[in-house]
Amino acid sequence: MTPALAAAVRAAEEAGRLILRRYGTALTVRDKGVADIVTEVDAAAERLIRRRLAPLGIPVMGEEGGGGEGADRLWIVDPLDGTVNFAHGYPVFSVSIALVERGRPVVGVVHDPTRRETFRAERGHGAWLGKKRLKTSPRRRLMESLLSTGFSYQRGSLLERSLRRFGRFHHAARAVRRPGSAAIDLAYVAAGRFDGFWETGLKPWDVAAGWLLVEEAGGRVSDYAGRPYRLGSVDILASNGPLHGAMRRTLA
Ligand code: IPD
Ligand code: CA
Ligand code: CA
Repeated sequence: MTPALAAAVRAAEEAGRLILRRYGTALTVRDKGVADIVTEVDAAAERLIRRRLAPLGIPVMGEEGGGGEGADRLWIVDPLDGTVNFAHGYPVFSVSIALVERGRPVVGVVHDPTRRETFRAERGHGAWLGKKRLKTSPRRRLMESLLSTGFSYQRGSLLERSLRRFGRFHHAARAVRRPGSAAIDLAYVAAGRFDGFWETGLKPWDVAAGWLLVEEAGGRVSDYAGRPYRLGSVDILASNGPLHGAMRRTLA
């Protein structure tokens, strides 16, 4: 493990412990938008991660604290992905940390504190869960696949389009889940638990680590049109590989 990966794993797991200590306790919840909320735990977890990553001297962009503008090499951090779940006591949330160089993730860590799972990847060295090397699923038929997605906090026409896509996939696949942590959704595609994932409107901190996990596990990540994924792309389609074409056609 390189020092950067080791530092990201340690920071994510320590933040996970902080998050779990506050899980199920009284929280101050602040509205960011119609359905978008943030708790003091989001901010506390980000402060902790920033302190742990600081000795490496690489700028940090965090969902809550911003930063990293214009840097070629930076950490991109979502200190708590799945805040709505966390605040409601639904145990699906994660910590996501990626090291990004010239727009591409080179280190990615997604830590799930409630299941005590840490998914990690380094470019060129595979994706791992503990001692197990991760491999995306071999499934080739959409009808036999288990997919996941999420919905942006934005309502209006974007939500209507997303609901229509959800409906199409529900007809075409074995089942579709909507767990509420995009970083976990992507880690599960890498682990072969989900065969594919799509969502519109995600931000760099939601996807940077999971993107690398999927690619290093042998899967594919693009936008809905099949163009190479970039941080800042409006939509993301991640799959095991064989199902990419069928998923693209369903999204179109
Ligand atoms: C959210 C989660 C959710 C996704 C939303 C994200 P947050 O992140 O990843 O699964 O559907 O679009 O904003 O706000 O809990 O960090
Ligand atoms: Ca997030
Ligand atoms: Ca978050």
